[in-house]
Amino acid sequence: MAKITFITSDNETIELEGTSGSVMELAVEHNVKGIDGDCGGVCSCATCHVHVKPEDMTKTGPASETETDMLELDDNADEYSRLCCQLEIGDSLDGVVLKVAK
Ligand code: FES
Repeated sequence: MAKITFITSDNETIELEGTSGSVMELAVEHNVKGIDGDCGGVCSCATCHVHVKPEDMTKTGPASETETDMLELDDNADEYSRLCCQLEIGDSLDGVVLKVAK
């Protein structure tokens, strides 16, 4: 079980709990604004872009090479960017804070 906090571009804070699946799936299931998951989680749309709170990067780890390739196309990407379809929910993600990218 992991508690995951999303901060939307409207500065709304949404706390969700998940046990399995990807963070993108959890967000879409609960209508988190700004996370669409258009490609269904195959790392090819970047509509699940989030910025990880810097101190939480140890929980998520860095973006993979495939993610980095996708994120390079997004002007808002930075070193804390992840595509949350690539974040598998598990105990290690507990307490993570993710800012939904614009
Ligand atoms: S859902 Fe398409 S890249 Fe994550």
